[in-house]
Amino acid sequence: MKVYVFNGVNLGRLGTRQTNIYGLTSYADLVKNCVADGERLGLAVECRQTDDEAELIRWIHGAADEGAAVVLNPGAWSHYSYALRDACAQLTGPLVEVHLSNIHAREEFRHHSVISAVAAGVICGLGVDGYRLALEHLAIRLTSAA
Ligand code: DQA
Repeated sequence: MKVYVFNGVNLGRLGTRQTNIYGLTSYADLVKNCVADGERLGLAVECRQTDDEAELIRWIHGAADEGAAVVLNPGAWSHYSYALRDACAQLTGPLVEVHLSNIHAREEFRHHSVISAVAAGVICGLGVDGYRLALEHLAIRLTSAA
């Protein structure tokens, strides 16, 4: 079962970027953890990160065409990208939105995600554990759907 883990803008800088908020795990280690979690859970996990919104939208289109499940941390695009939301609305597999930080406890502009309404669920504030929890949920969900 294929699951894409897509990370949007600025998330390639994990481990050095505002570590008090986003933690010390590097993007490379996040990828290693997600792939290892996928192996444990019987999921074929593929991770990608981009700072280019159009590229992310193309990846979402591809996942929609494949019927794949997606774990997505859209970064700041969460808060204003209707284009990304419209792409996510086309997904045919489940979408889990993940945020490392608790966006509701931060600046007001972060409180709303335009993506959440088209996601199956949202995990925020649990740091990198959020990705593992999203994959565990998808493993249960995809197995019971099969
Ligand atoms: C984030 C929260 C967003 O508000 C922010 O712009 C990010 C990361 C998170 O993972 O907590 O880049 O999505």
